[in-house]
Amino acid sequence: MRFVAVGSLKPGMKLGRKIIDRKRTSMLEKGITLTGMNIERLRSNGYIGAYIADRFSDDVEIVETVKEEHFASAVDAVADANVGSIIDVASELVNDISSLEKISVDMLDLRSFDDYTYHHSVNVAVYAVAVGTRMGLEEEEIQELAVAALCHDLGKSKIDAKIINKKDRLNDDEFEEIKRHPKYGYDMLYNNPIISPIIRQAVICHHENENGTGYPFGKMGDEIPLLAKIIHAVDVYDALTSRRPYKDPYAPVDALEYMVGGMDILYDRRVVEAMQTVIPAYPPGMDVGLSNGEKAVVIAHTSQALRPRIKIYDTGEEIDLSTNLKYRSVFITASGILMQEAAEGVETLNEDRGNAKEEIKNVIVVDDSSISLEQTKTILEDKYNVVTLESGIACMNYIKAKGKPDLLIMDIDMPIMDGMTTVDKLKAHCKNDLNVIFLTAIANKETVMHCKRAGATDYILKPVNPIYLKERVKIALDKNLDR
Ligand SMILES: [Fe+2]
Ligand SMILES: [Fe+2]
Repeated sequence: MRFVAVGSLKPGMKLGRKIIDRKRTSMLEKGITLTGMNIERLRSNGYIGAYIADRFSDDVEIVETVKEEHFASAVDAVADANVGSIIDVASELVNDISSLEKISVDMLDLRSFDDYTYHHSVNVAVYAVAVGTRMGLEEEEIQELAVAALCHDLGKSKIDAKIINKKDRLNDDEFEEIKRHPKYGYDMLYNNPIISPIIRQAVICHHENENGTGYPFGKMGDEIPLLAKIIHAVDVYDALTSRRPYKDPYAPVDALEYMVGGMDILYDRRVVEAMQTVIPAYPPGMDVGLSNGEKAVVIAHTSQALRPRIKIYDTGEEIDLSTNLKYRSVFITASGILMQEAAEGVETLNEDRGNAKEEIKNVIVVDDSSISLEQTKTILEDKYNVVTLESGIACMNYIKAKGKPDLLIMDIDMPIMDGMTTVDKLKAHCKNDLNVIFLTAIANKETVMHCKRAGATDYILKPVNPIYLKERVKIALDKNLDR
């Protein structure tokens, strides 16, 4: 069985796994031969792909993390906001996961746009339980974790669907309303005697960041309950790996890399480390491209997360990348849905993709180290107009002459005039309206407070993690992405 992006599905392919539609209007049984109509239906329902059974991949075994029926009834329970059934399905999910031989979330999700929130909540619960189990939580805590994860976005049902599904950038009022969903969810659960305060706390704190920049409270580090930290991290992971009307899906390896970049800043280190052990960077059934130009499908895990066992498409040869000597200098260069779509030349569903009207944003990067300046530029220049400057004074002069950029990325530690001072001075010039991300080698509490007081949008640790930087820049420029 292998995972094929919806754009690469062809009539005649055999379905490797049942697809249950939430409305039960169409159920595609395992083993059926796909027709053009089936494929069109999957596409219009927003599926990112499907598991296909063929001769080539019949030795790829994909362990089901939770039973399809349990996943489907969990989606129903969440959609109905029925707390009684949520508690029941939570224990089914926990049982499924705890009976796995090895805890690993190998399934790529199968979900659709229209009921994104419900599928998302169930995914988050599956990831959360896997992570919590890995972290050695007590049975009772895991049950509470599952319930809290299923309920984490319940509060979104109180928000106008127009805001939730809006494809364009949210305005400030809309964004403030979105930020109320943890509290709305908390309130919905408040008078329910079967919901413990621990669950409610996990729900209300699921958007809090380690460094205090989250919402609704701005809690930091240990003030955030552990269950909320777990839900927070896997919530972001699931959002990154799914396709939304306004974004393409990240491959698991890249989403995990992003999480690592946010360790200690946004996400708890222990949680991210546990995620790395229960979420495979290259899950079995996923297509990968190799540095020698060959294409392969992942067959199985090995002891090395980045070097799985694979099967080469052209030759049918099976290679264990963790031990094979011939392939010891070959590495995986690409994986996931986008790689398949690119190979097929598929237009994806993103309506705003390739929109000519969208203007390219201006980003100024200021750093006294020319090496890191060059690195930052290389990471960002394919998407933005990047201007690099080597000192605070050069930056002041540039902005005074040419006006302010859409985003300023400012190194803190620079001789003569440091980043903080530069930004303070520039703020006076720009009437406080300046979008700034600070770069810093040290993230002690003092620096963090400083960045916050300076009204920074974000700060990023050096040396920069490319995927993390790209995503944070996107978020700073477009609030759409941090829902
Ligand atoms: Fe949320
Ligand atoms: Fe969420």
